[in-house]
Amino acid sequence: MKEAILFVAVTALAADFEWNLPKGFPKPVVPADNPMSAAKVELGRYLFYDKRISVNGKQSCGSCHRQELAFTDGLARAAGTTGELHPRSSMSLVNVAYAPTLTWANPTLTSLEEQALGPLLNTAPVELGLKGREEVFLGELRRDPVYQQLFKKVYPGTANPFTLGNVTKTLAAFERTIISMRSPYDRYRWGGEPDALSPAAKRGELIFFSSERGGCFQCHEGWNFSEIRYEGGHDGPDDRAMTGAFLNTGVSHYAAPNRGIYEFTGQPQDIGKFRAPTLRNIELTAPYMHDGSMATLEDVIAHYAAGGKYPHANQSKVIRPLQLSQQDRRDLIEFLKSLTDRDMLRDPRWSDPWAGKPH
Ligand code: HEC
Ligand code: HEC
Repeated sequence: MKEAILFVAVTALAADFEWNLPKGFPKPVVPADNPMSAAKVELGRYLFYDKRISVNGKQSCGSCHRQELAFTDGLARAAGTTGELHPRSSMSLVNVAYAPTLTWANPTLTSLEEQALGPLLNTAPVELGLKGREEVFLGELRRDPVYQQLFKKVYPGTANPFTLGNVTKTLAAFERTIISMRSPYDRYRWGGEPDALSPAAKRGELIFFSSERGGCFQCHEGWNFSEIRYEGGHDGPDDRAMTGAFLNTGVSHYAAPNRGIYEFTGQPQDIGKFRAPTLRNIELTAPYMHDGSMATLEDVIAHYAAGGKYPHANQSKVIRPLQLSQQDRRDLIEFLKSLTDRDMLRDPRWSDPWAGKPH
């Protein structure tokens, strides 16, 4: 009997979450042991923005992933709560639910639940610095009336819901909801609004999707401009032999610890291979590349037009000098700017619930 009631309660919770995706867009993959619920997403939002999640109370996930910057931080390299510099640049979390692998270059990291442990516990460099202080942090949550209520709602009938596992699960559930499909480009391409793009952006679109002129789509492919997986499918580069999910694009000398997936595989042919990230909201996420080495979109286009800056034996054959006039470059940038979803930047579902409240 007790089980039956619990079962009903759990299904009711799971059923109360709606993705509300535009018609035709696929649903993200959700792990079987972490079903979505509205209450869980709400709890995840509180935790995402709670600075008590760092060793010195100075940072939360939201400090390096700021909503108004499409969940990046505006820095070339992220800085942790104790000031330590991360070797790489913060990444946008928009549509991260669709990413088959996470972070710039880690073929082994495939779940948001697992990813969240990184910033929480990493020591080289320290991001949030919770290692060794996990119990202190969980104790703080246990004593907070806001969390007492939220955890009980999400994990009813659990003797101790205040575990690190539940923290990372709720953070992941929140992150999965950050979905952006309302840019001018979306309205133009799928929303039946032919005038949502300027003529310049339309010309830029043609360059982006042309193999001869820009070739960008070969790595930044599909509606998310990056490889995706979703419920029932996976869309990656068409020709994996030619491109592959991780690519060397001649961005740097690739010195340790920024040698791409080589850091994991140890295979020399993997040096410099990084993920081609989504280009949605790219206008807001400068500086660019894994090391933040390009300050502006003009710099990025100049890099591609030159066929890469640091030639390397592993460089993708798709990266080669391009014939782009000044007008072409401006058009490409106009196109990239049409991928900005301004509603997302202010959407209250993803904003800081602590703003204006003491905590
Ligand atoms: C000190 C700044 C900082 C903090 C704090 C931080 N992040 Fe990040 N985040 C980064 C950086 C830098 C990367 C890229 C890491 C890499 O490539 O090694 C990243 C990458 C990610 C990614 C991968 C995105 C993708 O497209 O693959 C996710 C997801 C993420 N962070 C979630 C979180 C969560 C959840 C928290 C809080 C528990 C958090 N971050 C806290 C800086 C930060
Ligand atoms: C061969 C595959 C490939 C092609 C072709 C390609 N890119 Fe990329 N792109 C990548 C990879 C990989 C990265 C990440 C590289 C790094 O950080 O070292 C990237 C990064 C970027 C970034 C920075 C993303 C960020 O979040 O910092 C932008 C902007 C970008 N590409 C735009 C373009 C444009 C515009 C074109 C066409 C002119 C293009 N790309 C062609 C693979 C590619």
